[in-house]
Amino acid sequence: MKKLTIALVCGLVSINAFAADIAAGEALAKKYNCAACHGADYAKPIDPSYPKLAGQHADYLATALAAYKRGDSVNGRVNPIMSGQVAPLSGKDMKDIAAYLASLPASVSQKR
Ligand code: HEC
Repeated sequence: MKKLTIALVCGLVSINAFAADIAAGEALAKKYNCAACHGADYAKPIDPSYPKLAGQHADYLATALAAYKRGDSVNGRVNPIMSGQVAPLSGKDMKDIAAYLASLPASVSQKR
C-alpha cells in the first residue's frame, strides 16, 4: 500500500510538471515586463501595431512564442523585437506565460 501511494504521488508530480502554471506565467510576464509594450492588462498595447494578448488562446500564444524563438523564415516568426524577448525563456516558461495571458479577460474581438 505504501509503495502504491508513493507511486501515485510520483505520478501526480510528474503529470504536474507538464501542466502549464498560470501563477508562474504571471510572475514571468512581470519579471520580463511584457506589459511595457503589450499594455495594461495585456489589452491596451502602447502602439496599434503591437498585438493584444489578453484572452488569446494559450496554444496560439505558446506556438507564437516558440516560433519567435525558432526565428527561421520557414516555420518561425522573424521579428527583431520579439526574438529578443523570448531569448531567455524556456519551453515551459512560454507555456506558463501563454496560460496566464489566456486566463485574462479577452479583448481581441471588436464590438460593432
Ligand atoms: C519592446 C516591445 C515588446 C515587448 C517588451 C514584448 N513584446 Fe511581444 N510583441 C511586440 C511586437 C511589436 C509584436 C508583433 C511582432 C510581429 O509583427 O510579429 C509582438 C508579438 C507578440 C506575440 C504574438 C501575438 C500574436 O497575436 O501573434 C506574443 C505572444 C508576444 N508578443 C508575447 C510577449 C511576451 C510574453 C513578452 C514578454 C516576455 C513580450 N511579448 C514582450 C512587442 C513587444
